[in-house]
Amino acid sequence: MRYIGKEMSRVDGVAKVTGKAKYVAEFPVKNPAYGFIVTSEIAKGTITSMNTRSAENSAGVLKVYTHSNTLKTAAKGNAFAALQSPNILFSNQPIALVVADTYEQARYAASLIEVKYSEEKPQTDTIETNKQVEQKVDRRNPPTRGNPQTGLANSDVRIEAEYTIPIEHHNPMEMHGAIAFWEGDKLMVFDKSQGVYGVRGHLAQSFGIPTEKVSVVSLFVGGAFGSSLKPNYYPFITAMAAKDLKRPVKLNYTRRQMFTGHGYRPFTHQKIKMGAGKDGKLQAVTHESISNTATYENFSENSTGFGRTLYKVPNYDTKYNLVKTDLPTPVWMRAPGAVSGAFAIESAIDELAYKLKIDPLEMRRINYAEKDPESGKPYSSKELMKCFDVGAEKFGWSKRKLEPRSMKDGNWLVGMGCGIGTWGAWQAPAGAKVTLRADGTVHIGSATADIGPGTYTTMTIIASEFLGVTPDKVKFELGKTDFPRAPSQGGSVTTASVGSAIYGAAMNIKKKLLAAAKHFHTEMFKTATVEDVELVNGYLRMKNDKSESVPVTQLFEIYDQKELVEIYQAMPSKERANYTTMGHGIQFAEVKVDEDLGIVKVTKVIEATACGRVVNPLTAHSQEMGGMIWGIGMALHEDTQIDHRYGRMMTTNFADYHIPSNADVNYINTEFVEEEDKIVNPLGVKGMGELCLVGAPAAIANAIFNATGKRIRDLPITPDKLI
Ligand code: MOS
Repeated sequence: MRYIGKEMSRVDGVAKVTGKAKYVAEFPVKNPAYGFIVTSEIAKGTITSMNTRSAENSAGVLKVYTHSNTLKTAAKGNAFAALQSPNILFSNQPIALVVADTYEQARYAASLIEVKYSEEKPQTDTIETNKQVEQKVDRRNPPTRGNPQTGLANSDVRIEAEYTIPIEHHNPMEMHGAIAFWEGDKLMVFDKSQGVYGVRGHLAQSFGIPTEKVSVVSLFVGGAFGSSLKPNYYPFITAMAAKDLKRPVKLNYTRRQMFTGHGYRPFTHQKIKMGAGKDGKLQAVTHESISNTATYENFSENSTGFGRTLYKVPNYDTKYNLVKTDLPTPVWMRAPGAVSGAFAIESAIDELAYKLKIDPLEMRRINYAEKDPESGKPYSSKELMKCFDVGAEKFGWSKRKLEPRSMKDGNWLVGMGCGIGTWGAWQAPAGAKVTLRADGTVHIGSATADIGPGTYTTMTIIASEFLGVTPDKVKFELGKTDFPRAPSQGGSVTTASVGSAIYGAAMNIKKKLLAAAKHFHTEMFKTATVEDVELVNGYLRMKNDKSESVPVTQLFEIYDQKELVEIYQAMPSKERANYTTMGHGIQFAEVKVDEDLGIVKVTKVIEATACGRVVNPLTAHSQEMGGMIWGIGMALHEDTQIDHRYGRMMTTNFADYHIPSNADVNYINTEFVEEEDKIVNPLGVKGMGELCLVGAPAAIANAIFNATGKRIRDLPITPDKLI
C-alpha cells in the first residue's frame, strides 16, 4: 500500500486553521436577516397569550413568528416541530422566532416578548416517573438465551448492582445554525448537518415540495457527535421565515440554546445480576435498563444489546424499556447505547472478578467469546485477545495489585482498571462520483459529511491508492445534495461505506483503462484481467511484471477522452450476513485519588483497538484519543442537571456543564492491532470513532474502585461521592 496505512495530515487542515473553511453561519449571502429563538419558561402546559407588540416595534425587527402566524408543516411523524401549537412539551421549547436586520436587534427584541401560560406540573425525574404505569413504553426485547434464573442459582458467586447515567449533552464547539433563501420555488439551505440528504428530505416534506426543489449544503462541521444526525427543528423555521420575508435568513444558536431540544444522551438506569463459577466462568447475566424519552416521541438506544455479544455466557436475559418524561426527545450521542451498557456490564464484571479474587483482565480472558455468543456466527475478524496482550504490556498491568488501597503515590491512592468496548462494523449503501481526468487529476463528489474524524483526508488517501495518483492531485468534495447520496456520518460507517464506493469506482475506471490498453497495445496486457493490473504513479501496469506498463495520459490521448466518469453505488456484501462484523478494543486507566478531597486524576490511559485496517493512523489516533478524553468526561464530569420542580435543565453553559480540559488529561496512548478482514468490506476497514469510548468510563470507575475500595455506580464520579 502506498498511501493507505501511512500518516497524512488533514487535507483541510490549513483551511480550517486559517479560517478559509466555511462553517454554515459564515456563508456570505446578500442582505441576510437574522433570526433569534425565544424559548418557553415552563416545561408543561399551554401558552394562553403572547404580547409581541413591543418586539415588533423594536428597531430593525422585520417580523415575530409564533404559533399563531407560522406556516404549518406538512411533515408527518412525531418529531418536534417548532411554532406549530400553543402546547408546551418541554422547558426551553422554542415558542417564537424574531427576525431583524441584525442579530443584536433580533436578540434584544426577543427579550421584549411577554408570554402567559397555563402551567401544569412536569415530570422529568425518570426514576420517579417510571413508577407510573401510563408513562412506560414497552419495547420488544430479544428472546432470552438459556435459563438465566437457573444459571444464577447455580453460580458460586453472584453480584447484583444498579448503575445510573445522567443526561449528557453533545456540546460541540460549533453551535447549530442555518442560512436559508429561496430562488423562485427552489430552496437553498446551509445547515450544520451530519447528513444533507436527511435535511433535504425533511424540508421537502415540511413544505410539501419535491426533493429536487431543495438543496442542502454542509461543508464543514465543528463537531456534532450525533446532535446533527436527525433533521433539527430550526432549518424549517429558518426557511419558513426566508420564504415569508423573501430574504435570506440566518439563524444561530447560543450556547444556552444548545440545550433546547435537539437531543441528548438519555438518563439511564440499569440493573445487572451476574453469576459465575469459582473458576470465573460466567453462568448467567440479567440486564434491565430504562431510559427516558419524550411524551410525544420515542427514542431508544441499544443499551442492553451490547452485552449480549460480549462474553461467552450461556444464559442471558435483557429488558429495556422507555419512560415518558416532559423533556425533549433524546438522540444518539457518540457510542449511543453501547457506552451506557458497557458502563454497567464492564463495572459488573469487575465487581464479580473482585469477589472471586480473580484479576479483572484474566476474568475477561476466561470468558472470551471466540464466536458471537448471541448468533453463533463466527466473527469476520476479532483480535481482541491480542489487544489485551498489547495493551496490558504497554500499560504495565502486571504491576497492578488486586486488593484496593494497596498502591500509593504520596498522598494519592493509585488504582488501575480496564474495560472492553465493541462497536458494529457496519456498512451502509453509499454513492460517489469519481472523475479521472486526462491531466492526471481526480475529482470526487459524495454527499457524506466530515464532522471531524478526517473524512476529507481518508477519502483522498483511498482515491490516491487505487487510482495511482498523488494525494495533491485529488479533490474530494462532500456535504452537498448535488452529489450522489451517502449515509449520514453516524454509527462510524463512513470510511467503510463511502470508501467502498470510491474503491468500486476506481476498479471500474481501471477496467476501462485496461480495455483501452489492450486495444492499443495488442502485445501488452494480453491475458491480463482487472485483478492482474494496478494504477500506480500515473501508469497502468501489470502487478507481477512492472515492465509491462503504459502511462494513463497516453490512453486518454489515443482515445481522445478528456475524462472518465464513474458513478458508483457501493452496497454491503451478502457474505457479511454469515458473520458477525464488529470492532473491538480495551481501555486501561490509571487513576490517582486524593482521599481527603475526593479529587480524581486520570494519570495514564492505554487503549488497544482492533478495527480492521487503519487508513490514516494520524487521524485515527486522534479519534481514539478523543474517545478516551470523552470517557474521562463521562466518568468524572458530564452531567446535565435538571431541577425537577420546574422540569428545567440548569447546567446550560460551560461554567456549569463540565467537560475535561487540558488539565484533566494526562498521558494517553493508543495502539492499533491491525486485522486483515476480507469479509467486512473491500477495504477491510471498521469504524473506530465511537468504539474508542465504549469501555472508557467503566475502566476509570474500575480504577477508582481499585484505588479507593469505593464502588461508584452513579456517573459522574464527582469528589462528593468519594469523600
Ligand atoms: Mo454518532 S452518535 O454515530 O453521530
